[in-house]
Amino acid sequence: MNSVSIVAHRRVKTMAKSPRTYIPAAGHDWWLPLYDPISKLLGLDAARRALLEQAAIRPNHRVLDIGCGTGSLIMLIKRLHPDLDVVGLDPDPKALARARRKAERAAVSIKFQQAFSDELPYPDASFDRVFSSFMFHHLAPDEKEQTLGEIRRVLKPGGSLHMLDFGGPDSNPHGFFARFLHFGHRLKDNFGGRILTFMSQAGLENPKEVNHRTTLFGPIAYYRASAPTAKAGEKRSYEKVCHRLQ
Ligand SMILES: C[S@@+](CC[C@H](N)C(=O)[O-])C[C@H]1O[C@@H](n2cnc3c(N)ncnc32)[C@H](O)[C@@H]1O
Repeated sequence: MNSVSIVAHRRVKTMAKSPRTYIPAAGHDWWLPLYDPISKLLGLDAARRALLEQAAIRPNHRVLDIGCGTGSLIMLIKRLHPDLDVVGLDPDPKALARARRKAERAAVSIKFQQAFSDELPYPDASFDRVFSSFMFHHLAPDEKEQTLGEIRRVLKPGGSLHMLDFGGPDSNPHGFFARFLHFGHRLKDNFGGRILTFMSQAGLENPKEVNHRTTLFGPIAYYRASAPTAKAGEKRSYEKVCHRLQ
């Protein structure tokens, strides 16, 4: 739904405090009230639930959802794991206002923060799990690289990223909707394993496409990648020093 709007309108909005732009959840503000009901109808809720299954969340984890939009994924995480410390981030104040209202109604405590995914306002190594659902295709190629670098920075050693978005392994996807999605210049990066290359380039380890399937709203793929463990990080620094001394 959102991708259709994006491809068709290439609609961008400016974040209040800065001149930066972003593509909002449903492409246009006036679609936003329909985003949750239509997502549900198209099965996005079920798709998000499957993303959680691959993440092996534990009770002491700190969790970040980037591009949280109206908060559906982070609310689901908090409902399933009430004691977790969770944060939802998005540049869109209208989507965040909806997310906050939903959390209040459900009486769950979630911190929502207005920011961009490529300038994460958190210290190094501060989260165990980072999630991203149906957000990556909203980013321009340079923002994708920066975002993955930021995710790697804020993940604790051995922590992991879990991503779900339109796309899949096929660089020439079949079917009308798949080809339509592929047509969007921001979506092209989502096909043919390019996301895995971006992840490796950002220093994330063992990037994997965990699953992919075709749904009512087109092909979707699930990814995971990890931040290097402390030992791997130390080994890499040691190798860099040796390399410089040669
Ligand atoms: C299609 S919505 C997905 C929302 C939610 N994750 C979900 O599963 O429904 C994409 C979200 O990405 C956000 N977004 C766009 N550009 C962004 C950026 N540079 N950094 C973080 N979020 C961004 C949009 O504001 C929007 O809320």
